[in-house]
Amino acid sequence: MSSSTVITNIATLVTNSPSLGDGSPLGLIQDAAVVIEGDRVAWTGESSKAPATDNRVDAGGRTVLPGFVDSHSHLVFAGDRTQEFNARMSGRSYTAGGIRTTVAATRAATDEELEANLTRYLAEALRQGTTTFETKSGYGLTVADEARALRIAAAHTDEVTYLGAHIVPPDFADDPAAYVSLVTGEMLDACAPHARWIDVFCEKGAFDGDQARAILTAGKARGLHPRIHANQLSYGPGVQLAVELDAASADHCTHLTDADVDALANGDTVATLLPGAEFSTRAEWPDARRLLDAGVTVALSTDCNPGSSFTSSVPFCIALAVRDMGMTPDEAVWSATAGGAAALRRTDIGRLTPGAYADLIALDAPSHVHLAYRPGVPLVTDVWRRGVRQG
Ligand code: NIG
Ligand code: FE
Repeated sequence: MSSSTVITNIATLVTNSPSLGDGSPLGLIQDAAVVIEGDRVAWTGESSKAPATDNRVDAGGRTVLPGFVDSHSHLVFAGDRTQEFNARMSGRSYTAGGIRTTVAATRAATDEELEANLTRYLAEALRQGTTTFETKSGYGLTVADEARALRIAAAHTDEVTYLGAHIVPPDFADDPAAYVSLVTGEMLDACAPHARWIDVFCEKGAFDGDQARAILTAGKARGLHPRIHANQLSYGPGVQLAVELDAASADHCTHLTDADVDALANGDTVATLLPGAEFSTRAEWPDARRLLDAGVTVALSTDCNPGSSFTSSVPFCIALAVRDMGMTPDEAVWSATAGGAAALRRTDIGRLTPGAYADLIALDAPSHVHLAYRPGVPLVTDVWRRGVRQG
C-alpha cells in the first residue's frame, strides 16, 4: 500500500465540495486537515478528526486549496512580441494579425528551443499554483509544424488542443478555403493522434462561423472534442456554435448578446474568461457577473501566449476578475479551480474530495480571499502535484 500523509493545521481548506464543507460552493472547512494516499486525496475534514497516517506535515495555519486548473494556454511558441505590446500601450489596438509574427518565429525554432520554452513557462506556472494546464498548437500552421507542437505539448499534459485554425497563414492568404481543407484533412490526420481537443479562432480576420463549424465537425468525427475562441474582439457566431456542437468551453466571451448568454445558460458549454487578454490588450472586460447571474458555469484561465496575454499567473487573473469583472473572491477561486476542471470535462481535479488527484496548494494567508485582496503578492508557498510535494 502507498504511504499516507496528513497535512494538518490548515486555517481554511477549500474543498469545492459543498457537502464536505460549510455548504457553500467552495465547501470551506476551518481548522482542517487533508490526508493524501499515493496520488489521491483520501480524506478531508476537521483537524481533530484526522485519521492516523504514516507522515505528518504542519501547514502552519495556511490556507489550502485545489491547485489551479489553467484550461486555456498557448505555450508552444518561440520569440516574443515586446514591440507589439509597446505599440499597443502607445495606443494601437490588438488584431489577430500579430499571430503571424509568432508563427514565423515558431516555424524557425528547433524542437529543443520549443521544448525549453514550454518547460520554462510550465515551471513558472507551477510555482504560482497551476497543477493542470491545457495547451494548444496554433503557431505552426503547416502539417509538420502543428503535429510537432502537439507532440511536444503531449509530453507534458493530457490536455492538448489542435488549433491549426488559429489564423489563415500568409502562404494561404489568397485561398482560405484551401487552408480549411488542409486543417480538416491532412493536418487533422497528422494531429488527431496527439490531441484530445480541437479549437478554432472564430473571429473577423480569422475564421467565420461556417468555417468554424466545418473544422470543429471534422475534428469531432476524428474523436476530438471541440472548444472554441469565441466573441473575443467582436460579436459573432462563435458562442452559439459552441453550444450547438456541445463544445466543452467557449473561451473569451467578451462580446455577448442576450441570446449568447441564454444559449450558454441552457447548454453544457462552460464560459472561460481570460482577463489577462483584456488587461494586455487594453480591451473591455468580459462581464462575468452577467454570466453568473444567468446561471452560466464560468472558468478563469490565463490564455498565456506571447501576443494577447503573456502571463502564466492564475492568481493575477483572479485579482483582475474580482476587481474588474464583477466576481466575488469566492466565485473567482471556484472558477480557477472547479471551473477550469469543468471546462476540461474533468471531475478528478479542481476539488479536494476523496478519490480526486492530490493536486493542492498552500497559501501564506488565512483565507483564499487574499488571492484577490493581496494582488501581485506571491502567496503560494507549497504545491503538491499528484501527491508529490514540488520544488
Ligand atoms: O487567445 N485570440 C486568439 N489567440 C490568442 C492570441 C494569440 C496571439 O496573439 O498570439 C488569444 O488571445
Ligand atoms: Fe487563446
